[in-house]
Amino acid sequence: MIYTVTLNPAVDVYFTISKPLQEIEVNRADSQTLKAAGKGINCSLLLDTLSIPSTAVALLGGFSGAFIKAQLQEKKLINVVEIAMKAENRINMKLLQKYTSLSVNASGSPIDETVKKELFACTEMLTADDIVLLSGSLIPGFTEADYIELCRSIKAKQAFLAVDTEMLSLSLLKKIQPDLIKPNLYELSLLLKRDSLSESLYDGLQEVLKYTRSVLLSLGADGAVFCNHEITLRITQQPIQAKNTVGCGDALLAGFIGEYAKTNSLFAALAMGAACACAHAEGNDTALDLIKSYLPKITITLIESLTDLQL
Ligand SMILES: Nc1ncnc2c1ncn2[C@@H]1O[C@H](COP(=O)(O)OP(=O)(O)OP(=O)(O)O)[C@@H](O)[C@H]1O
Ligand SMILES: [Mg+2]
Repeated sequence: MIYTVTLNPAVDVYFTISKPLQEIEVNRADSQTLKAAGKGINCSLLLDTLSIPSTAVALLGGFSGAFIKAQLQEKKLINVVEIAMKAENRINMKLLQKYTSLSVNASGSPIDETVKKELFACTEMLTADDIVLLSGSLIPGFTEADYIELCRSIKAKQAFLAVDTEMLSLSLLKKIQPDLIKPNLYELSLLLKRDSLSESLYDGLQEVLKYTRSVLLSLGADGAVFCNHEITLRITQQPIQAKNTVGCGDALLAGFIGEYAKTNSLFAALAMGAACACAHAEGNDTALDLIKSYLPKITITLIESLTDLQL
């Protein structure tokens, strides 16, 4: 089973705005949509589109938590494990314009010890056949030490642990030693505390591979790089005039993990991840036909050595 864990789920409110934004004056939206979100939840929703079952473990509370739960329960292949909290889930605002977007994300309300205990208890159900996607920001009250404990209890069950969070540092990575991380280039430079990686990507990836078994580095319109100790692969596609870049990384990760769990093929999994990410960038990752139409357009090249890797 694939488990997604979302510590700080949200309701994303999307406003589509065609006119230029104005300060002080009221801006009118052409349309408004509400969506259950949070990086793990995004992954579960995408897996559902691919007809792959997942269990979404999410901290939920208040009217926004009820909305998120209801949206997830509408999906046939998502089993929701609700960790109930007193506070309500955060609400994020996304403004979509023709060629750009603006995001304002809330931090979320603090959780207490009871919620933490219930979350840790969830790891008891894991087995060595399971995959856990631990994605997104930490909710206030959940410390880095709690995060380390959570990762360690997942690993104690020998489940595969994939981590996608902005807050990774090298010292945290050392403590959690996941099976996969999915940073974008900016997150990788933050992790390594380097201003730019254009000259030192090889060294940077070598450094993180000491503490994670594999890396799926996403590069936005420039595609992605997958590497582990045996192989380095460059994934490319035609750049798309993206309608929505928020969540492209979640689509990449979910497509990759879902297909890998199904076929055990690294190439097929990377192609599926990239195709899902393209469909998401185009504005619709719920359309399986659109995802499939991208599959033949993805190129995967073997890089003989990390030293040959160029962006
Ligand atoms: N403009 C684009 N054209 C084509 N593909 C894109 C574009 N933007 C993103 N992608 C695809 O989406 C993948 C992930 O994108 P990106 O690196 O922006 O993720 P991210 O920053 O982690 O996003 P998020 O954290 O919001 O989910 C890329 O590897 C690529 O396959
Ligand atoms: Mg990301």
